[in-house]
Amino acid sequence: MADDKIKSLLSEDRHYAPPRHGKDIARIRSRHEYDALCELARTDNDSFWAERARGLLHWFKPWEKVQNCDFNVPRVEWFTGAHLNASYNCVDRHIITDRRNKAALIWQGEREMEVRCYTYQMLYTDVCRVAAALNALQIKKGDRVALYMPMVPELAVAMLACARIGAVHMNIFTGYADGGVLSRIQDSGARVVITADAVMRGGEPKPLKANLDRILGQCPSVEKVLVVNRANIEVNMLKGRDIWWQDLLDDFTLDADFPCVSMEANDPLFILHTSGSTGRPTGVVHSTGGYLTYAAHTTQWVFDVKDTDVHWCTADCGWITGHTYMIYGPLSLGATTIMFEGTPTWPRPDRFWRIVEKFRVNMLYTAPTVVRSLMRQGVEWTNHYDLSSLRILGSVGEPMNPEAWMWYHTYIGKGQLPIVDTWWQTETGGVMLSPLPYASHITPGSVTKPLPGIEACIMNTDGKEEEAESGGNLVIKKPWPGLMKGVHNNPEKFKSYFSTFKNCYLSGDGAKVDDKGNFWILGRMDDAINVSGHRISTAEIESVLVSHPAVGEAGVVPIPHEIKGEAIYAYVALQDNIEWTEDLRKELRNHVRSQIGALASPEQIQFVDELPKTLSGKILRRLLRKIASGDLLENLGDITTLARPDVLPVIITDRSRLAAGQPEKLIPKT
Ligand code: WTA
Repeated sequence: MADDKIKSLLSEDRHYAPPRHGKDIARIRSRHEYDALCELARTDNDSFWAERARGLLHWFKPWEKVQNCDFNVPRVEWFTGAHLNASYNCVDRHIITDRRNKAALIWQGEREMEVRCYTYQMLYTDVCRVAAALNALQIKKGDRVALYMPMVPELAVAMLACARIGAVHMNIFTGYADGGVLSRIQDSGARVVITADAVMRGGEPKPLKANLDRILGQCPSVEKVLVVNRANIEVNMLKGRDIWWQDLLDDFTLDADFPCVSMEANDPLFILHTSGSTGRPTGVVHSTGGYLTYAAHTTQWVFDVKDTDVHWCTADCGWITGHTYMIYGPLSLGATTIMFEGTPTWPRPDRFWRIVEKFRVNMLYTAPTVVRSLMRQGVEWTNHYDLSSLRILGSVGEPMNPEAWMWYHTYIGKGQLPIVDTWWQTETGGVMLSPLPYASHITPGSVTKPLPGIEACIMNTDGKEEEAESGGNLVIKKPWPGLMKGVHNNPEKFKSYFSTFKNCYLSGDGAKVDDKGNFWILGRMDDAINVSGHRISTAEIESVLVSHPAVGEAGVVPIPHEIKGEAIYAYVALQDNIEWTEDLRKELRNHVRSQIGALASPEQIQFVDELPKTLSGKILRRLLRKIASGDLLENLGDITTLARPDVLPVIITDRSRLAAGQPEKLIPKT
């Protein structure tokens, strides 16, 4: 895939010094300053975070205690007793300054000519109107509001309006279909769902409200559904329950101010579900004070965002990256944030570069899968665009392979710009390990070092810290303000993050540290798959497959994928007397699509007579994973724990048959 230029760069062992240009006005300007900040945070952790919180946010009332955390309980509490409001910090306080008429949010629709721009003042007016509307629906502090919305400005407004009245928003990615949406709404107990008639994809509306109609009968908590008209398509509106967003808002045009509810720092700001190692999604709860401090703090240090900057995070607000680096981080700092409704390749693969030029974007924060797919389209697509406004490039969600890193650096960064490869998780609230753009020496493929205040290390299974160069569990040894404060409805799950190693947060990722102290992320240690930077649990896909009447058992594993990073490979053992047919294969794939969403659709489904299991009946996914990636019997390692080793050669042969485009070989049942 790589062109010659990239190939020759890859053959060198490269380290990149921070750029000189822009350094003098950067927040953190040298390795020396970074070291000093780490030392400060180490010696007086509370003062370090207190100073950041005080400097970055507006607090209605100061805290009594900076932190009250104990991983052994576990208890996560930051800025105890303090009061603030996230909407106030992201909107109100800017309209009493020169930022009043500055662009807060620039929205680029899927169609090039569709652009909407909100100044801070305009954002204020709309957030107040929606807050008033939600209030009129009797939504109060602590109530949950589900946002199943496309990437339209109304989504940002809805998030901030919830924050304003103290309601807890719970965003659901629009790529999820019935099952994924249902489990999230049920788990959150949302009283209101905000949605749209459709999302735009490739110029066509894809119905969204209709997905809800199929499941709302099973969601007794939902009283009202607000529907944004995005695509002008016909939708069913249930009398008494469904309300057009615009109709509701029209009632609140006159009284523009709606006061912010004063929130205690540990009151929840939002719930966001992520995939854990079980079939049930994990409802990560983030607090108001700790989360917002950490969002602002990391946006300012990792992206070096200044008042004049235009920050573009390309993630969807259905994921944590959209929450922290499109909404809460940039807006709390008073920057300009870009929201893009479309995809990088429609109608042509120049979409990103067009947007960079059009809005003079300074920070571009995207995912390796996007870089890989654009790299594949060819560098010609960048040629006619002026990318010179870019100052910092970022990456998140999965390991950035050196080839993609070099392409990003060479063609988008013109060999000049720092790339911040940021490692973090839904649970961590914001970036944990990352280069600082003007202070770090970067080696492509490494996420460099923990940010000041973050104490990370690699632990082996015995709970001992690993030496340099050995891989193990990536753990965090000290609390930080962005850490989730709990798991909604599931205290046991919350405990599980802290129960493996004493006094440590377990990330679930494997990593190693090299002799220079740089971290290299090796991927998930649990049963989660990372498809295009989206975390999906294998257990969730397995349980959906097994819910199909034809399926007896299923084993789901990741396989490497050139663009997506990882893809999903499913082994399925059918019920007795059910035939292996291509139609059924298709049907199962559609079943997963309709239950979870297209992002969970298996790349390949292989029928097997029986899954490899231990004597105690546990499916050996380790073996399935190796086989799916093309390993042969001799490379499978220890197979002595298998109840029936004879199933393996058949599975291996069938895997190669499928890879060559032929169906599995039917073996008469014994
Ligand atoms: C993976 C996304 C390698 C990792 C912010 C983590 C990464 C999971 C990186 C979290 C990176 C995230 N390099 N892997 N720079 N960033 N990951 O919760 O496996 O959607 O545990 O949060 O993505 O995914 P999540």
